[in-house]
Amino acid sequence: MIPALLPVYERIQVDFTHGAGVYLFDSKGKTYLDFSSGYAANALGHCHPKMVEALISQSTKLWHISNKYTITGLLEYCERITDMSFADTVFVANSGAEAVECMIKMGRRYFSKKGQKNRYRFITFEGAFHGRTMGCISASGGEKIKGFEPALDGFDRVPWHDLEAVKAAIKPETAAIMIEPIQGEGGMRECSESFLKALRKLCDDHGMLLLLDEVQCGMGRTGYMFTHEMYEVRPDIIAVGKGLGSGFPISACLATAEVGKCMDPGSHGSTFGGNPMAVAIGNTVLNVMLENGFLDNVKKVSLYLRSRLEELATKYPDVITRITGKGLMLGINLNTSFDADAATKVCFEKGILCMPASNNVLRITPPLIITRAHCDEAFEKLELVIKKMNQPGRKLLGQIAKILSA
Ligand SMILES: Cc1ncc(COP(=O)(O)O)c(C=O)c1O
Repeated sequence: MIPALLPVYERIQVDFTHGAGVYLFDSKGKTYLDFSSGYAANALGHCHPKMVEALISQSTKLWHISNKYTITGLLEYCERITDMSFADTVFVANSGAEAVECMIKMGRRYFSKKGQKNRYRFITFEGAFHGRTMGCISASGGEKIKGFEPALDGFDRVPWHDLEAVKAAIKPETAAIMIEPIQGEGGMRECSESFLKALRKLCDDHGMLLLLDEVQCGMGRTGYMFTHEMYEVRPDIIAVGKGLGSGFPISACLATAEVGKCMDPGSHGSTFGGNPMAVAIGNTVLNVMLENGFLDNVKKVSLYLRSRLEELATKYPDVITRITGKGLMLGINLNTSFDADAATKVCFEKGILCMPASNNVLRITPPLIITRAHCDEAFEKLELVIKKMNQPGRKLLGQIAKILSA
């Protein structure tokens, strides 16, 4: 028997009834501090009043037409994005995977249009997660492609953060390097500034494109609208999603004019991409994020959150090995005798929502609107989680489970 809902997720059983700001509430009256934001998507928290207002207002006017027609406000929305970024042109889609897919297609077409049809290979990184389409899982490799082979040809994966391996992987066919400035699924691990700068230089030296997947780390999550701004590295194309719609399915692929000009009518598209509802919501998210002080506050509060997490790490060195990540995209790296998936469940019990990531990391991606008080509350709840996990019996069970699963 298979459930009517295709069982592709192992779900924690719960009945969330509503959300407000940084909190979620279930049908039993329990309150949860949401430090996961639905996999880093609810940048403005739950039911932000301005988003509710925009959604209600637009829903009585027009939801969807088609990209065959001019969509009022879509060009202006894209102009707002180009005005605040490195990009000259924007494609609006619905999910992170679609934005990455557009980025891959553009990267290939750029060289194809230049008459270099054999130049189609991308260097990607171990631990990467770019989404679930065939293109994205081929680029990501690892577990995600298993059972779906053959992978799309053209991706050369190298170890994370290994510059020599990148250099060795460059071939005449290499078109681009594609990387998440901060890997999320891969364990909340960030590129160093010198590494990302070195990748840019390699791209310049070899005439390759630098493609950044900022689906998770973009849109204010590090206190910069785009994370590459923090690194002072100029990309050729980036993919964003998640926070762009703050819970509403909107994503985008941003490119320079030089690259974007390879795309002409018919080369790409999306039925729902940039429809009137998406434009209304997308503009509202930008209005809030561009308010004076919003990003500065993300920078400040993220330093505070990090200091509190570091405090936990110092207090419980048997459980936490280190804190990684940047801004409000942080990872609590657990000692190998503890399991991040089990920790996520204990977090849920204790009323704080976090997600697991690879390499035994608990990922902390709260809404960008959190305050220091929320960070203190998170500290208290996480301490309860760690205390529970640190009981001698549990630790032993965790160790046995690890040995058995090895
Ligand atoms: C870095 C990155 N790229 C792409 C995606 C795919 O986004 P979506 O699930 O919206 O397709 C994700 C999702 O977690 C992501 O973290």
